[in-house]
Amino acid sequence: MTNILVVASSANGDASVSSGLAATLVDRVREGDPAAHVVLRDVGANPLPHLTSETVAAIKGEPVTEAELAARALSDSLVAELQAADIVVIASPMYNFGMSSTLKAWFDHVARAGVTFRYTAEGPEGLLKGKKTLVIESRAGFYSDGPAANFDGQEPHLRVLLGFLGLDDVTFIRAEKLAFGPEAAEAAIAEATEALGLFAGETLKLAA
Ligand SMILES: Cc1cc2nc3c(=O)[nH]c(=O)nc-3n(C[C@H](O)[C@H](O)[C@H](O)COP(=O)(O)O)c2cc1C
Repeated sequence: MTNILVVASSANGDASVSSGLAATLVDRVREGDPAAHVVLRDVGANPLPHLTSETVAAIKGEPVTEAELAARALSDSLVAELQAADIVVIASPMYNFGMSSTLKAWFDHVARAGVTFRYTAEGPEGLLKGKKTLVIESRAGFYSDGPAANFDGQEPHLRVLLGFLGLDDVTFIRAEKLAFGPEAAEAAIAEATEALGLFAGETLKLAA
């Protein structure tokens, strides 16, 4: 049975392109593996708290107070979802040239020294090994090439963060030009949908 964790992070509810594409991916996987187990962590609809001095103490140190214990419990449950996943799907809208702050907060809660990464004499080592990761990015503009490529603070940051945690088998699928008119948006979503189908097919073939 395939375990899939979907981390959705749009503030746009049912109208979200990235969340909609993530749902399509889940449908495609389920067509090939009806028993696939899916956990949806929608941090766009249900944002996680930003870190505070209290929660940093809880996540990085030893929790003592009630608030610290609650923060540690929340982080533990988010990490457990991640550790249990064979496939991690991250649906990431671009907001102000980067990932959404809700998605960044999720990373802040799951990046834990000694748990999801560790420091060694050779430098940091990610501990989340052997998983496939799919990042679905949605953007109004076009950053894959051309004059705005340098403005993309989303994909490079996601790549670094995922690699830091050991998630180094990453596929990026982009729905871009969503604000370039209805035809461009439709074409972008169709292209991303096709790429999702290929990803699902390849992933299920490897798992078989
Ligand atoms: C607050 C906000 C900031 C945005 N900033 C950017 C941006 O910097 N670059 C861009 O190309 N699109 C930007 N957009 C457009 C979104 O990336 C686009 O609408 C995308 O579809 C959002 O993903 P979603 O549909 O999954 O919510 C922004 C949208 C919002 C709401």
